[in-house]
This record gives sequence, structure tokens and C-alpha cells, in this order.
Amino acid sequence: MSEGQAQDQLALHALRAAEMAAIAAHGQIGRGDKNAADQAAVDAMRKGLNAMAMKGRIVIGEGERDEAPMLYIGEEVGTGEGPEIDIALDPIEGTTPTSKGMPNALAVLAIAPRGGLLHAPDTYMDKIAVGPGLPEGVIDLDLSAEENVRRLAEAKGVKTSELSACILDRPRHDHIVKQMRQLGVRINFITDNDVAGVISAADPNGYADIYMGRGGAPEGVLAAAALRCIGGQMQGRLHFRNDDERARAEKTGITDFDRKYDMRELASKDCVFVAAGVTTGLLVEGVKKIGPNTYETESLMLSSSDKVRRVVRTRVDGPSV
Ligand code: FBP
Repeated sequence: MSEGQAQDQLALHALRAAEMAAIAAHGQIGRGDKNAADQAAVDAMRKGLNAMAMKGRIVIGEGERDEAPMLYIGEEVGTGEGPEIDIALDPIEGTTPTSKGMPNALAVLAIAPRGGLLHAPDTYMDKIAVGPGLPEGVIDLDLSAEENVRRLAEAKGVKTSELSACILDRPRHDHIVKQMRQLGVRINFITDNDVAGVISAADPNGYADIYMGRGGAPEGVLAAAALRCIGGQMQGRLHFRNDDERARAEKTGITDFDRKYDMRELASKDCVFVAAGVTTGLLVEGVKKIGPNTYETESLMLSSSDKVRRVVRTRVDGPSV
């Protein structure tokens, strides 16, 4: 088998692992128990990953070894034969929307050759992202939200009032919202899941022209992996609330706490990104149960080597979960 064929096979297996996680979470949608939903997805995704022919290592997972029994950072997964792969994952990106039966929850994972994904600590990250086809450096985390939008409008040759921004609906973003209102920029708020928010802002036909705001750092790496596949620009900077979070970062090898990471530093090697819909959202449809033990899933599958964006619909029969 050629290297390319082996990679395609890994990508398909990664897709399968995400689908399994989404299907496992289906039974918990709207039941008010986000831990149960997460656990079901974790178990299923882990089973899928362990079937993959690789020496896999989790770099972004459910937490550190002492706080996560499965899919913890550093856990080795796969058959132990094959290429050395790093994995960033979130069996449910959006546990709250899953437990509340709300939109936009995904089962997500990114795979890359060893060393290809930043080991981000479980802290916050300030993020900014735009889609492809814009001058390099058009956005910059060091500038205000207002200045970034002005530069984007100029690059696109439109008025700021013709732009829209995707922002996570949190009080911490009030200052960004205020600046956008002053510029007449539309705001498409999301309640959760800024991985989907970033991707949809990078999509030329997507939900917004720019993504801005603070969300999870692990989600920042996942989003950067997706953007590396579809094109676009993204920057992220870790945000620490206390010394404990700084200590967590140190444990992952981070020494420069103020560093501004570019997309290609967050996801530094060719990668594959898959996201299976748990509940219907910006990117894909959620899981549907279409028979006593038959499910239909819709997933986004991206690869940075061929830059093709695939939406995959799968029907799964049988007692796989
Ligand atoms: P979970 O998967 O842990 O539920 O996180 C969802 C999420 O919305 C992320 O997409 C986002 O980066 C983060 O939470 C935002 O955190 P907070 O809810 O603390 O603002």
C-alpha cells in the first residue's frame, strides 16, 4: 500500500470513529445529562480509534490522565502498527447543546503526523479567523476588533455594514459586540461550538465573514486543523485566568505565555479533519435514527493534502454502538 493510500485509509477510519461517537451520543440528546452524553461518545470514539492501524497519541483530548479515564492527553491509541500519528479530538464539541437538544454539536477529530498539532492546554484562547482569498496578514489579534473589520472591509472592497461577524454569545465579548454595532456589522451569534463558528466564517458561502472571540484553546487547535484544510487565516493566543492554568501550559511545554500563534503553528503539518453532526448545525445535519437500529450521519471530512471539502452521509446498520 502506498503512503497516500495508507493516509486515505486512516482518514476513513477517523471518519468512522467520529460517526460512531455521534451515533453513541444520539441516545443522550435532550436528556439533560452532558456527562452521560460525553461518556457515550468517548467510549465509541475510543473504540473507533483503537481499530486504526497506527501508533496514535492523543495530544488534545478529554483532559489530563488524572482527570480523564479515557482519551486523556498522552494516551496511546490504535493497533500499535503503522505510522506515528498525533490526534486532537473532542468526542462531543458542544456537550451543553447535546444535553439540551440544541443545535450545533459535533463529534470532532483531527489527525496529523507526529508533532503536527500544538499541545494546547485546557485554557481559553483568543481567536480570529477569516476565509481564503484575502491578503496575507489582513487580520491581526494585536489589533482591535474594529480595526480588523475595517481592514477586512477594505480588502473585500465593501462597507463594514456589508460584513457579518460570528461571535460566541458570552458577556466577555460585549466590547467586541459594541464595536461591531458601531460599524453596522451584522452579528451571527453562536451559543456554543466555536470550532463550527471558525469553519463557517472561513467558508465563502458561510455564516459570517470573520470569527472573533475567546473560546477553548483545544477547540482552537481543532479549528486551525480544519482551516489548514480549507484555506483561510487564523490566529490564536492562549488566555490564562490563574497560575494553575499557567502551570498546565508549562506541562505541555509552553514557555511563552503571550505568544501569538498562526494557523500553521497550531496545525503545523498536513492533517485530516473530520466532524460528524450530533445535532444539526452550521456545518452538517445531526444524527438521525431511521430504524430500530439504523442511523444516518452527516459529516464534514477535510484533508489538507487535497484541499477537498467532502460532506459524507453514512447509513449505519447493526449493533455497532
Ligand atoms: P464543550 O464541548 O466542553 O461543551 O465546549 C463547547 C464550547 O462552546 C467550545 O466550542 C468553546 O470553545 C467553549 O465551549 C467556550 O467556553 P465557555 O462555555 O466557557 O465560554
